[in-house]
Formats: sequence, C-alpha cells, structure tokens
Amino acid sequence: MLVLGLETSCDETAAAVVEDGRRVLSDVVSTQVDIHRRWGGVVPELASRNHIVQVMPVIHEALTRAQKTLDDVDLIAVTSGPGLIGALLVGLQVAKGLSLATGKPFVGANHLEGHLLAIRLLEDAPEPPFLGLVVSGGHTSLYDVQAFGHYKLVGSTRDDAAGEAYDKTARILGLPYPGGQPIDELAKKGDPAAIRFPRALPGDNFDVSFSGLKTAVLHHVQKHGVPQGQALNDLCASFQEAVADVLSKKLVAAARRLGHKNLVLCGGVAANSRLRALCQQRAEERGLRMFLPPVRLCTDNGAMIAVAGYEAWRRGLRGDFRLAADPAWRM
Ligand code: KG4
Ligand code: ZN
Repeated sequence: MLVLGLETSCDETAAAVVEDGRRVLSDVVSTQVDIHRRWGGVVPELASRNHIVQVMPVIHEALTRAQKTLDDVDLIAVTSGPGLIGALLVGLQVAKGLSLATGKPFVGANHLEGHLLAIRLLEDAPEPPFLGLVVSGGHTSLYDVQAFGHYKLVGSTRDDAAGEAYDKTARILGLPYPGGQPIDELAKKGDPAAIRFPRALPGDNFDVSFSGLKTAVLHHVQKHGVPQGQALNDLCASFQEAVADVLSKKLVAAARRLGHKNLVLCGGVAANSRLRALCQQRAEERGLRMFLPPVRLCTDNGAMIAVAGYEAWRRGLRGDFRLAADPAWRM
C-alpha cells in the first residue's frame, strides 16, 4: 500500500511517500525555521501562510522523488492534531482536496503517534509491547505501547516540554531558535560537571519537570552574565546533562516497573547526542534494548505521518470530509 504522508502541524511543511508503512520512497521537508527565527519562536499566523505557499510544491517534490504520481497513491495520511490550528488546517484541507479530486481515501494521523511510529522505518523495528518516550517541542510524554493504537500515557512533563526547555534556555543564552541543535553542538565542547543544575524527579512516578532547570539557568545568567567561549560550552553541557540524566533515569525506571524490555526514544529532542548516548548506555546496563530513529526521522517529517496513517487505516480508521483538525488531540 502506497501512502502519501502530509505534515503541517507546526513549522515544517513535509510530505513523504512510504510503502506498506515500512519503506520510505521519498521524504521532503521544507522548514520555516529561518522565517520564525527572528521572532524567537514559531509565529502561528506566519506558519499557516507559509504552509499554504509550500505545501503543493513539497507534495510534488515527494511524488517526483519517489517516481510516483497521485494515481499510484493508495492512501493520503495527514496530521490532523495535535498542533497549531491554522497550520493543521492547511494540510487537512489539502488532503481533503486531493482526496476529492482523485477519489483516493484519506485518514487523519496523530502527530505524536507519528513520532512514536517513526521507529517502524528502522529495519529491525520493535513490535509492541514497548515503552515509548516522545520528547519534542510541545510534548514530553511516556507511553506504554501494548499494541498499535493502544497507547497508555504513564508519565509526562508537569510544565515545560523538553524541547521547550532547550528553546527557552537558548533564548536566555542569546542562541538562535530552535535551541536544541545549537546547545547540543556547544555542549559537545563543554564540561557537563561544570555547573550542577537541579534534577527535578517529582515523586515516585514517571513525570518530569523542566521549569526549575530553566529558572536555574536564568539565575546563573543573572548572577554571572551571559557566558562566552568555554564558559558557554560548559553551561550548555551542564544543562544538557541535567535534561539527559532526568529523561534517561525516568525511562529505565519505568521500563523496570512496567516490565518492558524494548524502549523507544523519539521526537525532535531525540536528535540530541547526549540524550541518545545516555539512554543507550543506561538501557544496556540494565539489559534493555534501546531503539533510536535516525536523527532525520526524529524531527517533524512526512514519513512518520505516512506510517501513523497506514497503521490507523489498518485499524479501520477512515477520514471523511467532516474531519476537523484537533489542536489538542490526545493519543
Ligand atoms: O518534534 P519536533 O521537530 O517538533 C515538535 O513536534 O515539537 O521537535 C522540535 C524540538 C525543538 O524544541 C528543538 O529545539 C528540539 O526539538 N531539537 C533538539 C535537537 N534537535 C531538535 N533538542 C535537543 N537536541 C537536538 N539536537
Ligand atoms: Zn513533532
């Protein structure tokens, strides 16, 4: 089954062609990062407008690279939530329009399920049950996955999402938006033990909290000024260590308690080098298996939406023209 995946929930316009929910034939991402950077974050109105400009060329490019036409496509999968309402509506209306014009069916896919199921694109993808941690700009959520379509939320952030913590910290440090990658790069040259930032592990559960960490960075900067050179590298490394320490600890603790052997880390922050390494290390120490999507499949893309749409279709989900975008869709 050939699926065209379409993603416009935030600031990437993305389309991909994926076969049988496992084989990527093409994956095109047009990012709006340069447009939003000067505002220090995503401006929803600008995001919607730019999706409108980019969406058709991106779809065309994805089909061309896959050497397919719309005639070859069996299903159109589109992110219908969660995300920015205006941004979601662009992709959803395009999917409906294409479906109407071609007679091909469409289905609404959940963006978080997309992040989780990006792991299906690995050759040795785990089958459920597994424990999946989604760490993105908007979410930090831990799911007990007993079967595709059965996602039990077992932990989440009490305040900021992990990516939000990165982006806000970058802003405090005068680094560009989005902050994850710049901090990751500087942290590689820094000493993670230079500053002991707080680790919030609220209680004997699988929730996390990052607002205290962000505030600690702010207080440090208020006291010592914005660090430069090696001091900046050290601060980034210390911040990054705190995030990776908390997330990896919670992940393996949850695996132990819930009896999972296979772990999945996904979402934009799963691109983080230290988080990947520490999760891998702690999983191995406890005889658990850590599955990590390649970095390009961690941040928003159309391939993950094609996979989520394909799985939703197999469960019997069908899109109809009344389908509404749901900016707060919980899996
Ligand atoms: O999943 P994603 O592309 O979009 C959402 O669904 O939110 O995640 C974007 C987030 C941003 O906050 C960005 O700073 C973060 O992922 N990110 C990273 C890295 N690359 C992207 N965070 C830490 N380290 C990275 N290398
Ligand atoms: Zn995302």
